[in-house]
Amino acid sequence: MNCRGLIDKLEQEKTLSFSEWVILLSSYSKADRLYAAGKAGMIAQKHYGKKVFIRGIVEFSNICSNDCFYCGIRKSNALLKCYNMSDELILECCRTGWENGIKTFVLQSGEAGKCNLMRLTGLIQQLKSRFSNCAVTLSLGELSFDEYKLLREAGADRYLLRHETANEAHYRQLHPDNMNLANRMECLYSLKKLGFQTGCGIMTGSPYQTPETLAEDMLFMHSLQPEMVGIGPFIPHKDTPFANFPAGSVELTLMLLSLCRIMLEKTLLPATTALGSLIPGGRTMGILAGANVIMPNLTPADVQKNYLLYNDKLSADKPVADAVGALSKELSAIGYEFDFGRGDFGGRIC
Ligand code: 5AD
Repeated sequence: MNCRGLIDKLEQEKTLSFSEWVILLSSYSKADRLYAAGKAGMIAQKHYGKKVFIRGIVEFSNICSNDCFYCGIRKSNALLKCYNMSDELILECCRTGWENGIKTFVLQSGEAGKCNLMRLTGLIQQLKSRFSNCAVTLSLGELSFDEYKLLREAGADRYLLRHETANEAHYRQLHPDNMNLANRMECLYSLKKLGFQTGCGIMTGSPYQTPETLAEDMLFMHSLQPEMVGIGPFIPHKDTPFANFPAGSVELTLMLLSLCRIMLEKTLLPATTALGSLIPGGRTMGILAGANVIMPNLTPADVQKNYLLYNDKLSADKPVADAVGALSKELSAIGYEFDFGRGDFGGRIC
């Protein structure tokens, strides 16, 4: 079967075999990519209209006990200036978002485990009482089932934890020995079980990634059925072991966004900051490929510069209101607009 045939089959059956994925991912052309994007765009519209959900992200601490080879805030990066924003400052950032119509707050940090936990439950409660009916998404890395449970009981709605790769050997090439894929997957299943809208995901073009590892990613995502999928290009950071690897490609990122949309239909799919960092207009290209979420950064500009997961990361050069205004304009130029609702998983049938 040729690539178009495989894309049609994916649309109908919602999955492909391992070898079919490998053929598709290793031999698709630009025309095939656009064919997939056309289908993905229609599916996104069927469930969500020509609307894009908006989330405000607060990168509240860059302190991390992990040493992932790709990441700029890894613990061995001695050049990094550590920070941990106060609760007051976090709430202030969220207020600015709220005043600009944002109803989902994404709290992201390095993996600091237990030290974060008690303050996080307090923060979630504060957010929920100050901003009525807001949604809270967390992105704090790997925790135990009981810790996730505490966060869920405090009111958190969603959790992002990219699996990074579903292939064991590839996982080893991206991470030090004290991390393992089985635990990461276990975390994702725990999050699902606890009723979080759960997001997994990968970097496209991460070092040592192949069509075979990507095929495993697609199969894993099909079995997990995540409510959210984060897909952005790998971009090297100069103070990491992967400094000299090339960045992932825009084309592959867009293709994977489209394939995820076709396979998972209703999943919440951000056009990521990394995609926007790689190419001007990258995020609107992501929307046209089937993404339906954009996450402007609410972190204060002077703090953001210490949260560089990769070099040349798109960062706020203007107040939140202007950033939201500029994004709205970009969206209207392609016939889309922001949806200022909470943006839960599910969508609607038009
Ligand atoms: N390039 C692109 N994305 C990165 N991330 C971490 N480092 C990089 C990088 N160098 C992504 C990882 C992580 C998420 C928070 O950021 O996929 O899960």
